[in-house]
Amino acid sequence: MNQKFEPKPPLRIALAGLGTVGAGVIRLIETNALLIARRAGRRLVITAIGARDRAKDRGIDLSAYAWEDDITAMTARADVDIVVELVGGADGPALTLARKAIAGGKGLVTANKAMIAHHGRELAALAEAAGVPLRFEAAVAGGVPVIKGLREGAAANALARVYGILNGTCNFILSAMEETGRDFTDVLAEAQARGFAEADPAFDIEGTDAAHKLAILSAIAFGAAPDFASVETAGISRILAADIAQAAALGYVIRLIAMAECDGAECDGADCDGDVSLFQRVQPHLVPLAHPLAHVKGATNAVVAEGNFSGRLLFQGAGAGDGPTASAVVADLIDIARGLDAGFEADMAFSVPAADLVAMPPAPSGHRTSRAYIRFIVADRPGVLAEITAAMRDAGVSIESLIQKGQSGPDGEAADVLVAMVTHDGPEAAVTHALKLLEGSPSLAAAPLVMHILGE
Ligand SMILES: NC(=O)c1ccc[n+]([C@@H]2O[C@H](COP(=O)([O-])OP(=O)(O)OC[C@H]3O[C@@H](n4cnc5c(N)ncnc54)[C@H](OP(=O)(O)O)[C@@H]3O)[C@@H](O)[C@H]2O)c1
Repeated sequence: MNQKFEPKPPLRIALAGLGTVGAGVIRLIETNALLIARRAGRRLVITAIGARDRAKDRGIDLSAYAWEDDITAMTARADVDIVVELVGGADGPALTLARKAIAGGKGLVTANKAMIAHHGRELAALAEAAGVPLRFEAAVAGGVPVIKGLREGAAANALARVYGILNGTCNFILSAMEETGRDFTDVLAEAQARGFAEADPAFDIEGTDAAHKLAILSAIAFGAAPDFASVETAGISRILAADIAQAAALGYVIRLIAMAECDGAECDGADCDGDVSLFQRVQPHLVPLAHPLAHVKGATNAVVAEGNFSGRLLFQGAGAGDGPTASAVVADLIDIARGLDAGFEADMAFSVPAADLVAMPPAPSGHRTSRAYIRFIVADRPGVLAEITAAMRDAGVSIESLIQKGQSGPDGEAADVLVAMVTHDGPEAAVTHALKLLEGSPSLAAAPLVMHILGE
């Protein structure tokens, strides 16, 4: 027999920020109100909203909601249980709101990766002390439930490493370059025109956005205190159409990969004892066609986690956009609504109590071994290739393959030459040393580009 649904008192929400995600959250809560109420055991009710400009047309009717000119005033309202922060920015109004909400005994849901990467530990400690929930599913990979997947679904596993494609803008650009053979600047302009890239794209294309998300994933996966400053970060702006073509000829695609790995010993997060260091890197990689990440195209995000009992887990889906991101925000609200009766005294935003998050020292990349693709643009004259290979030999880098491609200048005369090599598996420090030997050489027309090759 069907049991009749009898809702408990609603979860009352204040929404700060009514841009792409904020408006999406309102649309989702209104559209799926009934099914959300059944799944959450209570209705989600928006009581207050706020943004910068009250007069702005947001394409939705906001007349039912109380407007706050000052978003921090939401934190003192008696008719608010949870504040949803969708303003953005690591500091400033978002952080002020977050701190005040928690101090005022409200739970906090946010999609703000920059704020969680920089201040997540502090906010988690404040939330634990206040006995209120803190959730940020939408901060990593938008609509893909990777935080829930790791924090809950994979909770029983020691994770060796977690890595993936965490920036949709970069993936859109790289896959479009791959499909059309066009250059980076050309494709970036198209991405901006189609709304996949911001007017100021630096945050995305230089890897900062992916690094924020990686710092959060490391905390969830390894119990490491989020440490954005230690993420070794390189973006995609120096990748040429010729690199994509060379990679394809060798059986690879190029993807911006964010990777975190506990170095030296198996890490089980809560019990890390100081011998364990954390390697975090965002860098374009050559990804073999046999790897699932090679087939992640367009603005999609994907995360791979390797658990000692689960084996390889793959999470994939839309990493941004109003609908997918709102889906993750509202999932957090449903989660909180379900747990409201039990309270949040022992709640942990990361997988472990905030005080147990370990400040792991960054693992130096020079200790790692890998295969690498190294691309040089060199002057077209005799002896240049010999100079490069001598530097590799002197530094102990073993070359697996080498391709040299002449390029024509605008008038058809010989211009600079592209030299692309793939190294055997070897110490990354040796590659760094080789490039140091070549530094300042008049033979090099541009700084070399190094991309590591992802193992299968
Ligand atoms: N967009 C995505 O696909 C996506 C995906 C994952 C995570 N996120 C994260 O979600 C958050 C929101 O992103 P978004 O794309 O929705 O940003 P957005 O479209 O720029 O919206 C930001 C909102 O915050 C409001 N705001 C800015 N400064 C304010 C202030 N001082 N006081 C009050 N309101 C203020 C703006 O007001 P006005 O509208 O009046 O100007 C706007 O409504 C960010 O942390 C972002 O990183 C976004």
